[in-house]
Amino acid sequence: MLARLRSDIQCVLDRDPAARSVFEVVTCYPGLHAVWLHRPAHWCWTHGFKWLGRFISHIARFLTGIEIHPGAKVGERVFFDHAMGVVVGETAEIGDGCTIYQGVTLGGTSLYKGTKRHPTLGKDVVVSAGAKVLGGFLVGDGAKIGSNAVVIKPVPAGATAVGIPARIIPSKTGESADVTDPKFQASWPDRQHRQPGAPDCAAVVRDRETLAVIA
Ligand SMILES: CC(C)(COP(=O)(O)OP(=O)(O)OC[C@H]1O[C@@H](n2cnc3c(N)ncnc32)[C@H](O)[C@@H]1OP(=O)(O)O)[C@@H](O)C(=O)NCCC(=O)NCCS
Repeated sequence: MLARLRSDIQCVLDRDPAARSVFEVVTCYPGLHAVWLHRPAHWCWTHGFKWLGRFISHIARFLTGIEIHPGAKVGERVFFDHAMGVVVGETAEIGDGCTIYQGVTLGGTSLYKGTKRHPTLGKDVVVSAGAKVLGGFLVGDGAKIGSNAVVIKPVPAGATAVGIPARIIPSKTGESADVTDPKFQASWPDRQHRQPGAPDCAAVVRDRETLAVIA
């Protein structure tokens, strides 16, 4: 428990050059408070105390300006930087080490209850200020989403997506992939989200060079 709190604080110190001390991080970082309040909210949600989970989440939203549905799964060392105006939907999953800036929505485009409506972020994903990631698909490990991008299709591991609708920016080899291209979609085996036993997308598309070959 103590080790987990230390790791939460350390990840802020590591990723925000403006953070000066542990005391400052503990007292002045709403992103940290939101993560800490999400844990009891999520516990309540998954242990049959759904109203209490929602209520804790509501209090957290009031205090921090960050709305994380208690059903959302948030990994270790997740850092919401500034983070005012962030919305994380019920079926969203945020992998270990992700960084999420202010104004981000991890939202859905369908209204069907009980379905995977919100995105899954792999490990160490960066979602920049104002970006909207909409739908129940996967953003692969280490991917980066540019500020104000609107992402409506999966993003391969290690890729950078920018623009509206988001496109994968050219790799170092000068080639690029359009995530709305059916050929690209067909080459992407894990479009919705990681299922038990499904292939690990991160192993399929590991970096920009691999992506360029697919494109
Ligand atoms: C998206 C981001 C993470 C990518 O970082 P990176 O991999 O180091 O890549 P670069 O910053 O070099 O950008 C790569 C290209 O994408 C372009 N790009 C970056 N962000 C973009 C955006 N939001 N929309 C359109 N194009 C964008 C850059 O102009 C650059 O194009 P170029 O190669 O033609 O010059 C980073 O650019 C970024 O925007 N971070 C913002 C973080 C944030 O929200 N900060 C707010 C703190 S308060």
